[in-house]
Amino acid sequence: MDAATTVTVTGAGGQIGYALLFRIAEGAMLGASRPVRLRLLEIPQGVRAAEGAALELQDCAFPLLESVEVTDDAATAFDGASLALLVGARPRSAGMERADLLAANAGIFGPQGAAIAANAAADVRVLVVGNPANTNALIAANAAAGLPAERFTALTRLDHDRAVGQLAAALGVSVSEIERVAIWGNHSATQFPDVAHATVSGRTVVDALADVFGGTGAALAWLDETFVPRVARRGAEIIEVRGSSSAASAANAAIAHVRDGIGGVDWTSAAVVSRGEYGVPEGLMCSFPVTSEGTGYRVIEGLPLDDRGRARLDASVAELVAERAAVRELGVLS
Ligand code: NAD
Ligand code: LMR
Repeated sequence: MDAATTVTVTGAGGQIGYALLFRIAEGAMLGASRPVRLRLLEIPQGVRAAEGAALELQDCAFPLLESVEVTDDAATAFDGASLALLVGARPRSAGMERADLLAANAGIFGPQGAAIAANAAADVRVLVVGNPANTNALIAANAAAGLPAERFTALTRLDHDRAVGQLAAALGVSVSEIERVAIWGNHSATQFPDVAHATVSGRTVVDALADVFGGTGAALAWLDETFVPRVARRGAEIIEVRGSSSAASAANAAIAHVRDGIGGVDWTSAAVVSRGEYGVPEGLMCSFPVTSEGTGYRVIEGLPLDDRGRARLDASVAELVAERAAVRELGVLS
């Protein structure tokens, strides 16, 4: 058995928290030989719900779960944490865009970034899930004095998995046959789900779609008119159909993001700090195709982007720049 890892989950009393905690405790995120100590951070109104989840965690008698602590104090919650999943934030409701949450949620992430820097383990890694996730990650990283911004990431794995699911359904194949999908930009309606490099059992996805739709032109039209908007607006579709925002799929994506960042993966998507790759302004938290050798995500460089892809990425990056300006205006980002 490995040494125990301290994992902090914020917003643990909420919907995603409820879908996340039991799987972390069971070993889905860190593996079957790594015990976990869970720290659940909530605001005072959410503490009872988190305490209820803690009681249920105890009732599951998970062999890997060493302890569960519920608190509304950030310093206590992040003390010694090697992993922090920042989920706690207001979700949007029908008719809102995620950026409409900026004013409500941005104030959460500066203090939490500072508390992480002051209290967490030196090797801490942080995943931001609360929306708007890219810009909240930027705020948290900016406030975390002394921690490299590379330790902070935001979740676009859900968009990536949605894209894979849509392609598998259109092609009538298993999701495991699809590789090299990329999500570029913001976790918002401007994101660019890109299949230019994607393959299905070694063939290009575009060729395989051409067989299904009766030609390359029809395949490209389906990608532009159906696939891209469906993936980019899937969060809104879930809210409309389910009545509240995605929870189990978001928790699943968060687990996959952490698992693959630590365990290694050839190709997936994540929002990471830009170092100028693909012309994205340095410092923005932008989704890219990424790889990991087990020490965190690194952008896969050198992929060609055609004119349409470039324009889509530029539009999403422009939105990230506008969000950064908006949170500066709010005084939560220096
Ligand atoms: P929820 O309302 O069910 O739960 C949020 C929880 O966060 C609540 O229990 C609340 O008390 C708590 N909270 C609020 N402020 C907090 C703070 N400062 N510290 C600690 N806890 C705090 O919402 P949810 O469905 O769990 O969604 C959480 C967030 O995740 C939302 O912002 C949602 O939009 C976002 N989300 C992101 C993705 C993604 O792919 N990036 C996917 C789904 C949802
Ligand atoms: C999602 O993509 O499901 C989440 O970001 C929730 C939302 O507001 O769409």
